[in-house]
This record gives sequence, C-alpha cells and structure tokens, in this order.
Amino acid sequence: MELDLNSMMSDPALANCPWPIYAGLREHAPAMSAPFSRSQSGTVVILTRYDDIHQALRSPELFAANYGEAHPANFMGQKRPLIPLNTDPPDHGKYRKLLDPLFSPRAVRELTDSTRRIARELLSDVADSGQADLHAAFTEPFPCRVFLDIVGFPPDDLDKFLLWKDSLIHAEIVAGTEDPEVLAQLWSDTADAVYGYFNVLLDRRIEEPADDLATRLLQAEVDAVPLTRHEMVDILYLQMAAGLDTVSASLDCLVARLAGDAELQRQARGSGDALRKMIEELLRVETPVSMVFRYATQDMDMHGVQISAGDMVMMLIGAADTDDTVFADAMTVDPERDNTRHMAFGGGIHRCLGSHLARLELTVAFEEIFAILGEFRLADGKQADFMPGIRTAKSLPLQWEPRFAEAESPR
Ligand code: HEM
Repeated sequence: MELDLNSMMSDPALANCPWPIYAGLREHAPAMSAPFSRSQSGTVVILTRYDDIHQALRSPELFAANYGEAHPANFMGQKRPLIPLNTDPPDHGKYRKLLDPLFSPRAVRELTDSTRRIARELLSDVADSGQADLHAAFTEPFPCRVFLDIVGFPPDDLDKFLLWKDSLIHAEIVAGTEDPEVLAQLWSDTADAVYGYFNVLLDRRIEEPADDLATRLLQAEVDAVPLTRHEMVDILYLQMAAGLDTVSASLDCLVARLAGDAELQRQARGSGDALRKMIEELLRVETPVSMVFRYATQDMDMHGVQISAGDMVMMLIGAADTDDTVFADAMTVDPERDNTRHMAFGGGIHRCLGSHLARLELTVAFEEIFAILGEFRLADGKQADFMPGIRTAKSLPLQWEPRFAEAESPR
C-alpha cells in the first residue's frame, strides 16, 4: 500500500472519521513504512495494534524521545528539548519525580472551584443565545484560562497565548501555507516570544513569590540542586504546548459525540459516576490525541517491516484504543465496560503528566455545560470539522434551548 503521509496529515477526512483507516492499517499493515518529511531519516513507521504500541511505549531504550543530537520526536517549535517530553532515561525519571506531586490528584482537586468559576463565566456569556460556535466560545479559551491561572499569568493574556499555542501546534493554519521556510520562521519567532515571556514571569516571581507553578519551580530542587533557568522555562513551555490543545480537542470530540447522540447525552447526565464513566469511554473511542512519536534507536523488524535506527515511529494510539482484540466490540460506546487499559493519555514513562488535571477540567466542563446550556445538539445542517493529530475542531456549531434562568451548580 502506498501512503502519502505528508498530505494525509493535513486531510480533514482523517480527523473527522479516522476509524476506517485505523481498522484497515491494523488488519492489513500493522507496521507500515512511509516517507515523512518530519523524520530525520525521511521515513516513518506507523504502528496501529494495541499490543505493539503498548510494548513500544514501555521500551524507551528501543523507542526514544530523541535520536542523535537534539532531534526530538515531538516537535512544537522548541529550540531546546521540552521537559519532560523530549527527555529520555535517566533524566526523564528525575524530572517526573519533581513534577508528579505538582499534578497529583490532591494538588489538582484544589483547583476545582477556580476551574468551575472559569467554565461558568465563559458558558454564561453564550447561554441565552441558544446557539454558538462552542469551540470559539468555550472549548478553546477554557483550558487556556485554567492554565493562565495555574502558571500565574493575568487572564488578559488569553489572546496572546491562544495565538502562540496555535502558531506552535497548527503552524500551517496560522501561516496559511506549508512552505517550510515560512513555518520555520513562525516557529522561531513564536518560540522566542514564549521563552521571553516565561523569563519575565520568572524574574517577577523571584521578587514577588505567589501560589503558582512558576514560584514552585523557582523553589524546586532535583537531587538537592535547584533547577536552572533553562529547565524552568522548558517545563513551562511544555505545559503550555501540552495542556491547552489536548483539553480543547478532548472537549471538542466529546461534545460533538454527545451532540450527535441524544441517548448517550442522557446517560452522561446521570449521577456523577455516570459522567465519569462516559468521559473515560469517550476518551477511549475518540482518542483526541490520536498519535505519539518516537525514534527507533536500533534496527529491528516488526511484522516483516524493516525499521532502521533513526526512523521515526508514529504510534496511532487511536487505533490501539479501538483494537477489537483488546476491547470487545470496540466501536460501541459502552460506559460500563472495563476500559482502564485505554491509551488516550499515552503509556509507559511519558504517560500524561496532566491526566488528573485533564479529567478535572473535562468533568467540570460537562457539569457546567449540562447545567447551563441544557440539552444540546449540532446546529441544523452543520457539522464539526476536526484537525488531524490532536483532533481539535475548527468550529463546533451547537444549538440548545435557552433556559433564561440562573445557572445552578449540579452539586
Ligand atoms: C484530555 C486532555 C489530555 C490528553 C488527551 C493528553 C494526552 C497526552 C498524551 C497522549 C501524552 C503522551 C505523549 C507521548 O507519549 O509522546 C501526554 C503527555 C504529557 N501531557 Fe498530556 N494530555 C492531556 C492534558 C494535559 C494537561 C492538562 C497537561 C498539563 C499539565 C498535560 C501535560 C502533559 C505532559 C507534561 C506530558 C509529557 C509527559 C512526559 O513526557 O513524561 N497534558 N499527554
């Protein structure tokens, strides 16, 4: 099978309905080699079966975050490796030891009230209109406002952050071209602006410590040694790149799914436990962050396909999460199934640092959407169009019956 991956990566068909492609690859080409401009060797090998990806994510010595001199598999405009995503053992472990407690379930629970306040404020702005592009009105600004709060930035910087985030993750769309030189310039300018902004914030927090992530990083030590300024900035940069679009995409995918299925939406509105189970099951089926990347560190063979050291490896975790050999009748949304093995947050040592925060944001967002908007559906004659990779919607046209009443908290 010939695959033009460079154009496939910008094809909305892949993002809107990736499941037939997942199934075809899983069945007929579980390891598939294709040319890919982002790979150092020019080649990427795509993996789609659950067991292969599960094993590969747990073998960082074979499938590494970097290959050679500062060539990270995951690129978001950065000029230095992002911490911890672009690091490999043993450095990776020491950074996670420092960062895990800052994003533990307990630490994250303290953010519940402020997160709910932000959700209410944004949703209340559109509630009475009975219709909105919920992506522009809510799913995009919501995680960004939460992030600004955690890191210690003023909410007024929202628009600046949204543009930076889009320039780093969806550069082709912001630049309106795929010209490599134009994109390289956009990434470079944006990265410089982001580095500069975080440096100013850290300087300010030395003078005026606050209850925020920047201050915690200034006080943190790894093996009794304080973090360098570069390390702090490289952690903050990743927080921005990893914590905004991922939550927006998850909200977009889950809201669109519930908007198109009144019965599922009714089930999700049940007890708190029903919502929690629905979110988890929809994260499995939708897998909004649909792929993760590594570099092969040595020559190997998978399913008869030669993988050479230096080849990029694309693991389609969306395909893994809909693999029938692991999840019976995998395309059926069944909140009661045991889906604890899903890989929507990745797996192995790089498993998502922010999964507890992400679950809090998703839960609070849906509680408030149900309470403030009521029953919602896709606007008549409209559909949601998604982007491939991190499956954010370009727009999410919804309608609902306005309630003209004070929003009540579900609890
Ligand atoms: C529902 C929303 C989210 C989804 C679906 C998601 C998904 C993922 C996935 C699939 C990975 C693995 C990447 C890889 O293996 O290459 C990952 C890693 C990561 N995520 Fe998330 N993420 C979400 C929200 C967040 C949030 C809110 C934060 C901010 C705290 C965050 C921070 C990170 C970091 C720092 C890593 C790298 C961890 C490491 O390298 O050890 N994520 N995420």
